Amino acid sequence: MIDIGIEADKRKEIADSLSRVLADTYTLYLKTHHFHWNVTGPMFQTLHLMFEGQYNELALAVDLVAERIRALGFHAPGTYRQFAALSSIPEEESVPKAQEMIRLLVSGHETVARTARQVFKVAEGVSDQPTCDLLTQRMQVHEKTAWMLRSLIEA
Ligand SMILES: [Fe+2]
Repeated sequence: MIDIGIEADKRKEIADSLSRVLADTYTLYLKTHHFHWNVTGPMFQTLHLMFEGQYNELALAVDLVAERIRALGFHAPGTYRQFAALSSIPEEESVPKAQEMIRLLVSGHETVARTARQVFKVAEGVSDQPTCDLLTQRMQVHEKTAWMLRSLIEA
């Protein structure tokens, strides 16, 4: 029996919402790793290393989101099928050019930031400060990373 001051139906609502953040983050993790493997061109070294830093950060982040779902009393999704159903980030069917990879990653980071911002309202409404704190940190990372990637392709 969980008695942390948030009703079960509200905990469920937050956990379901956090599952969308988890799915977005995992999908972006996979996309970033995919691009790390397959990037080509004159920016290879820069992008190969930059993407590595980014996917490592995302791999740590999914753990924090999943464990928050567990602390709220629910199971975290953990299959590609579940993530595909929950995620707002589309997958690529082919390998894009380097500039397009950057654009797609900017879009992916912006998407996770938007999802996290929506879920924040749910968590805030029931005084779930730990979830709000986690989401605030995730929004900071995604918005900063989007800026850094955007700066590579802005003239
Ligand atoms: Fe590698």
